[in-house]
Amino acid sequence: MSFGDSFEERVEEQAEHRYHWADVIVNTTYMNDVMRAVCVIPGLFTFLEWYKTEHMKKTLYRHAEYATEHTEARPKINTKRKDFMCHILASKGPPATNKEVASHFNVIMMAGAVTIATFLAGVTYYLSHNKSALELMGCEYLTAVVEEGLRMYPPAGARHLSRIVSPGDCEIDGEWIPGGTRVLVHQCLAYLEMRMVLAKLFWHYDLVWFNSDEIDWDRDSKGYTLWEKPALRATLRRVE
Ligand code: HEM
Repeated sequence: MSFGDSFEERVEEQAEHRYHWADVIVNTTYMNDVMRAVCVIPGLFTFLEWYKTEHMKKTLYRHAEYATEHTEARPKINTKRKDFMCHILASKGPPATNKEVASHFNVIMMAGAVTIATFLAGVTYYLSHNKSALELMGCEYLTAVVEEGLRMYPPAGARHLSRIVSPGDCEIDGEWIPGGTRVLVHQCLAYLEMRMVLAKLFWHYDLVWFNSDEIDWDRDSKGYTLWEKPALRATLRRVE
């Protein structure tokens, strides 16, 4: 949806030492949490910025690098796909610099990829433990499963994420927005994605093997801004 091709397609063609972007994103959000905690100890943040650990280089910096590389690569591919980038490239007004566009994709990739993946992993686990819910999902209760999945395992539940217009109003892209407004701009898109992937997944495939007895999703998930999830192993057999 962002760059007009499968997630990471271009990156995987490249050198071996590279990390999968999805892993980088999860590690980056964890690192952000660590840095937020570190801020309470005076001077430690400055020290860490100076003494960049290997882990920091592999996460915070790598994520920004990937966003930049994909941003620069996208205009070179020949696609008619209506991805996010095509709207940015076609936008009116002074053209955005690569750096500006990359910084948007830095946020979009961080916010959009792992949330949906987390939701799907959690819901798949819970559905595997609840056969009646799985059957109900096939009987037009897809939205109920999505809602309940979000309630049981909110993919991004941290309170510090809030984006609220400050008192005194503001103007965004020519629109006057009153102070206190809080809107999730991407809510419809996120619901569309969750419904579409769940429906296609369970319509086309049966879950035939699962390690759900070895893991306990509630016990083994660690909550930061996002979840560090236990390994979920499932084999999907295509329904003939
Ligand atoms: C289950 C799926 C998702 C959940 C639960 C979720 C949740 C959230 C939450 C709680 C916030 C903070 C907003 C606030 O309080 O003001 C947020 C921000 C955001 N989300 Fe999502 N999101 C999901 C999917 C997506 C998708 C698919 C995209 C885009 C492709 C996306 C893009 C964004 C962006 C751009 C922001 C703003 C980040 C910022 O202001 O720094 N999200 N999301």
